[in-house]
Amino acid sequence: MACGADIVRRVSDRLPIAVLVSGTGTNLQALLDTVHTREAEVVAVASSVGGVQALERAGAAGVPSAVFARGDYAERSARDDALADWLHERGARLIVLAGYMELLGDGFLARFPGAVINVHPSLLPAFPGIGAIEQALAYGVTVFGVTIHFVDAGIDSGPVILQRAIELPHARDPAEVLSALRPLEHQLLPEAVHLIARGALRSDPQNPRRTIVGLAADHLPGG
Ligand code: GRF
Repeated sequence: MACGADIVRRVSDRLPIAVLVSGTGTNLQALLDTVHTREAEVVAVASSVGGVQALERAGAAGVPSAVFARGDYAERSARDDALADWLHERGARLIVLAGYMELLGDGFLARFPGAVINVHPSLLPAFPGIGAIEQALAYGVTVFGVTIHFVDAGIDSGPVILQRAIELPHARDPAEVLSALRPLEHQLLPEAVHLIARGALRSDPQNPRRTIVGLAADHLPGG
């Protein structure tokens, strides 16, 4: 997979990013509070659901937003096309799924090759899909965590970018785990955007599942 190769850019530019949401948008807020107007520019927020708090957050930050509800389109591919068209019009080069509760098809991913990332509240490949925290609690794990990964056609199956773990040996309640994971998400997602904006992520030629973190020679001063 391209693994962000086509979004490698000069260090001085701001990377135009779009954030896809479905709910409260605390991860969107983390991006707005950190990388936005610095190394990145949030140029669009698209929601799969109308009236959610994430849209209010976009409005408060002066970022254009739109709703692309699955039910407004005869097929998912038509929704994906309309969404991709709008994101392209807005100039987005990186698409960040931040609590986006819809699947995106191959057609959408082909429009942004290697440039779609997601935040997931588990240490993938454990507990992909919905209800990750509930799955982890039911399994009885004592270590929880967060994964930032590239999005491919599968469910939470693309190459890992960053992961962070936290030990919660006594956790029983999903809400308690979520509130422990929130700070990790809000730290890791901006960190991943920061690395991509700096051109500091590349795919390991030995193993495309691995993402190498570090500036390539042509991004180093004088390179
Ligand atoms: C986060 O827990 C994220 O890991 C999951 O959905 C949640 C979104 O939260 N994919 P928010 O809308 O960013 O507050």
